Amino acid sequence: MAANIGLEPKAVKASKTVLNNLLADHFVLLAKTWNYHWNVKGVSFHSYHIFMEELYNGLIEDIDDIAERIRSLDERPIGSLQGYLEHNRIKEHCDSEPLPEAKEMLAILSEDNDTLIREIRKDIEQLEKEEDTDDAGTTNFLEDMIEKKEKTAWMIRAYLEK
Ligand SMILES: [Fe+2]
Repeated sequence: MAANIGLEPKAVKASKTVLNNLLADHFVLLAKTWNYHWNVKGVSFHSYHIFMEELYNGLIEDIDDIAERIRSLDERPIGSLQGYLEHNRIKEHCDSEPLPEAKEMLAILSEDNDTLIREIRKDIEQLEKEEDTDDAGTTNFLEDMIEKKEKTAWMIRAYLEK
């Protein structure tokens, strides 16, 4: 049964594009964070290892929420790694590149999280600019996501300052 939720097809298409790009970013950042969690070394290994686990668990929650927001619009989330690599805006950490030391890993993840916040802001502006695309549910969803990621940004900054 088709969704009858008062949104024009143009609005749904614009929201789907924004949400799928964000989903792709999250999968790439998940792989990167998990990779750092596995490979981190040093005297503070344990605390970095655990903190990065908290970060990737947060990303897994967000991935599920983004994909389910797309389904709420009766659309199909990207479901393949190839698809994510075609849409991501977060740079991958390739296996041929050397791994940084622990603090640098976290600094990179901090930059990536900040990038996501800025990209979501731009996405909201873009959605609001388009005519006939008053998808309040998605705008509200994205605004909540900014707030969550701003909290993550603060926690990573605090961690790096210790
Ligand atoms: Fe683990």
